Amino acid sequence: SHKMILDTDPGIDDAMAIFTAMAHPEIELLGLTTTFGNVSVAQATQNALSLVEMAGLDIPVAQGVSTPWVKALAPFPDFVHGADGFGNLDLEAPKRKAVSSSAAEFIVEQVNRYPHEISLVAVGPLGNLATALKLDPSITSKVKQVVIMGGAIATDGNVSPVAEANILSDPHAAEKVMAAHWPVVIVGLDVTHQVVLSPELFDEIRDNNPKVGQFMHDAAEFYTAFYSSVRHINGCYAHDVSAVAYVVEPDIFGTESGEVCVATEGVAIGQTIMSRYGIPYPLNFWEDRPKQTACMTVDDQRLITLFKTALT
Ligand code: BDR
Ligand code: CA
Repeated sequence: SHKMILDTDPGIDDAMAIFTAMAHPEIELLGLTTTFGNVSVAQATQNALSLVEMAGLDIPVAQGVSTPWVKALAPFPDFVHGADGFGNLDLEAPKRKAVSSSAAEFIVEQVNRYPHEISLVAVGPLGNLATALKLDPSITSKVKQVVIMGGAIATDGNVSPVAEANILSDPHAAEKVMAAHWPVVIVGLDVTHQVVLSPELFDEIRDNNPKVGQFMHDAAEFYTAFYSSVRHINGCYAHDVSAVAYVVEPDIFGTESGEVCVATEGVAIGQTIMSRYGIPYPLNFWEDRPKQTACMTVDDQRLITLFKTALT
């Protein structure tokens, strides 16, 4: 089975990813770490705890960073995820509490405990990963892989013409994560914009999952309303769950590899730039960069089946 730490800013599609990770028989979810992003970090932690409680599991939640590395660029997107992060369902406060270690401490501790075994899956802004790298640079050689929902390599962004939301929320942290010599897999808009989760799918989940189905259905309704009005699709995109899916069924995706830089200022701020064909001249940005992997194609039916199977 796959040991996983899921770094998240729940978030409606984060909830889909978290439930999938909790339910999948081949995933051993070691913990959730939280970050600001879709909501404040305090709300993200509360939301993560609520999901653990809803599922009736005992999974540690460690709270992480509350602000970006350098400066905040945008307000929390309440029009996408609701003011509470779950489509304004206003859940009761959870009884569970977060552990006392910070997200970065938790990551460092677990990675050292299980060297070469952990997939670090990040589906929010990347401040916790960047902080963990700073705390213990040796984790680069001890994680199995770092799978990120974020970025847009050869397609448009979703919060600017070139930037994806998780990267724009903390471009400096993202730049550190991409520059580090550890194996990063980018599961970005190139693939997540190719998979639409339909309202009918969420009806089925509601009807077949007495535990969390109603919640997931109602939250997805809010998310779908946003996507159908802005992107004109009948459903919502499968952003965060795609990164979880990559860990258990990587062959759902077709990948390319290359060095990756993140733009940290100017009009392209937040852009993830991958050198897909190599750099013919010495250009300092690109020196000493590891080759990372990016998902470029996806089998949408297999991805939807994986999600549906986990949630029903
Ligand atoms: C990403 O941004 C957030 O709104 C979602 O939860 C997802 O992680 C998509 O760009
Ligand atoms: Ca997210």
